[in-house]
Amino acid sequence: MASLRLLLSREEIERRVEEMAAQIRRDYAGDMPIFLGVLKGAFIFLADLSRRMDRSPEIDFILLSSYGSLAASSGQVKVLLEPRAELKGRDVLIVEDIIDGGLSLEFIRDYVARRQPARLRVCALLARQRLLDEGLRLDYLGFPVGDGFLVGYGLDCREEHRTLPDVYVLEES
Ligand code: IMP
Ligand code: MG
Repeated sequence: MASLRLLLSREEIERRVEEMAAQIRRDYAGDMPIFLGVLKGAFIFLADLSRRMDRSPEIDFILLSSYGSLAASSGQVKVLLEPRAELKGRDVLIVEDIIDGGLSLEFIRDYVARRQPARLRVCALLARQRLLDEGLRLDYLGFPVGDGFLVGYGLDCREEHRTLPDVYVLEES
C-alpha cells in the first residue's frame, strides 16, 4: 500500500509562487517572455504563475516522452508535441514542474537554444537538492527537495494524484 505524506501545503506553494511571480515581473518589467510549459506536470504551476503577471504572457507547451515514472531513466528523451510558437528572437521562459535527473531540462534547453531565442531562462517549481549541490543553476526555483517521489500540484504517478492541491511524498509501505 502506498501512502501520501504532506511535503508542501497549498498555502506554502501559493506564497512561494507569488514570490517567484514578483521576481519575474520585476526582471522582465512588463516585457513578458513566452512561457514555455513542459507537459504535463507543469500545467498547474504555469497556470498559477502566469495569472500573477501584470501583462498576459504568450503561453505555449512542449510535451516530452516520459521515460518512466518510478522507474529509472532510460536516457532517451523525445518530443511528442512541438510548441506552435516561433521561438527565434523571442524571450523564452521554460516552466518546469521538477528537475529530477536534469535530462529533460538539458534536452529542452538545447531544443530551444537551437531555435535561436533572444534570451532563455528557466523557472522550476521544484529541483532535487542533489543536483543543486552538483552545481545546477536555475533562474527561478520554488523549492529544493529531497529524493522522495512527489505527487500533487501537477505531478503524477502514472496519472494518479496530479490534481491534489498540495505536494506529497509518495511512500510505499
Ligand atoms: P528529469 O529529466 O530526470 O529531470 O525528469 C524530469 C521529469 O520527470 C519531470 O519534469 C517530471 O515530469 C518527472 N518527474 C521526476 N521526478 C518526479 C517526481 O518525484 N514526481 C513526479 N514526476 C517526476
Ligand atoms: Mg515535467
